[in-house]
Amino acid sequence: MRTLKLAPSILSADFASLGEEIAAVEKGGADLIHVDVMDGHFVPAITIGPLVVEAARASTKLPLDVHLMIEHPDRFIEAFAKAGADMISVQIEADVHLARTIARVKELGVQAGIVLNPATPLSLAEEMFKAVDFILLMSVNPGFAAQKFIPSVLDKITRLRAILDETNPECPIEVDGGVNLHNVQEVARAGASILVAGSAVFKTLDPEATARMFKAKLAEIEL
Ligand code: DX5
Ligand code: ZN
Repeated sequence: MRTLKLAPSILSADFASLGEEIAAVEKGGADLIHVDVMDGHFVPAITIGPLVVEAARASTKLPLDVHLMIEHPDRFIEAFAKAGADMISVQIEADVHLARTIARVKELGVQAGIVLNPATPLSLAEEMFKAVDFILLMSVNPGFAAQKFIPSVLDKITRLRAILDETNPECPIEVDGGVNLHNVQEVARAGASILVAGSAVFKTLDPEATARMFKAKLAEIEL
């Protein structure tokens, strides 16, 4: 039986009341808080830095899941670890010394993950499957919230789950982009254990109630 976790992405939250937004989804049953870090280079937008992670850290006990969509992630992992990240993931397309970066994240006492864009083949990450604590598959091209889920990623999730069952069975698959109340069960059934949802949670009238609905959908499916 796989544990299914909901990770609301604060990218779609109201930053003027970030503490309240996080408290609402925590009350609704969120398991993690997903933090999207963008640098204006790897992706066009600039978003969150360590200061915001520190502020989020002070407002919740939930684990902070920091997704680095930045070039040279190795230069910044220490700052995000110090700011209070519990999980840090790096895009494999942005780091030519991935093994070293992942080892460094672990040395800092933080769970280490790798992220693959929709067009990046699983085979490119093969050497890292045993070294990581989790793997994030992007189901949109990173850079913006509220994009449409790319359906071909469902098969990629299933293929990765089968590989991990052989190589690193405890390693969860996280899926990020376009996840909503309508497709969350399908994504979980395909093999995802950590479901990221940004706009589908925070762009609703009552993020707390929406988080609760997501959790109910996840609880409905036995795996
Ligand atoms: C995309 C980010 C996602 C995004 C998800 O670049 O990595 O985490 O915020 O937003 P939704 O759930 O709205 O697609
Ligand atoms: Zn993300």
